Amino acid sequence: MSTPFQKAALARRSHRSLTAVSTLSDAELEQLVEFALVNSPSTMNSQTSRVVLLLKEEHVRFWEMAKNGARKVQEGDHLANTLLRHSNFQKGYGTILLFEDSETYKGSAQLQDHGAGILHYVLWTSIAEAGMGASLQHQQSFAQDEAKEAYSLPATWNLVAQMPFGVVAEGVTLPVKSVVPLETRFKSFGGEK
Ligand SMILES: Cc1cc2nc3c(=O)[nH]c(=O)nc-3n(C[C@H](O)[C@H](O)[C@H](O)COP(=O)(O)O)c2cc1C
Repeated sequence: MSTPFQKAALARRSHRSLTAVSTLSDAELEQLVEFALVNSPSTMNSQTSRVVLLLKEEHVRFWEMAKNGARKVQEGDHLANTLLRHSNFQKGYGTILLFEDSETYKGSAQLQDHGAGILHYVLWTSIAEAGMGASLQHQQSFAQDEAKEAYSLPATWNLVAQMPFGVVAEGVTLPVKSVVPLETRFKSFGGEK
């Protein structure tokens, strides 16, 4: 079995070596985000996720903010390592900032997280299907305050993840992932053998 969805799921990997090239126009990228927001389910249809799409200079600017934040709290090798990672993300075409609005839903925080994860996956897989690479990052402690001010975002939007993306750099091959034996993860009852 190899459905279009399975092909897209296989294409989705963590790509951290990117170029400043997009296979989609900027308008198509906006449509991709809109589609994911409208069609990703959320607990009680609460739709608590918020997204900011940063392209080109704005994407570079965001990672400069993250570097500034890192410089305030890290030093030495730790800082050098963080700055290098941020510089790598900066080489991409854009970054999707993923927020959760703390005001719109007062139910289970765990279920809200599940909904956020589904949206992140839909976006990540949609980008892969479009022929680009992306990764899921969690550098919000460095960049949240400056980014919210720079883009005049509501105080109730909490930055929970960042997804830098772009066409994957030439020659990049990802390691084959280790897979935990499925017998330890999956049981099936009642089906015909
Ligand atoms: C919930 C979640 C959080 C992750 N956080 C990070 C992260 O902060 N930084 C990072 O480089 N990768 C992050 N990853 C990527 C995982 O390490 C990666 O998905 C996993 O090793 C499998 O590799 P693959 O994405 O190539 O299939 C995250 C993935 C998930 C699903």
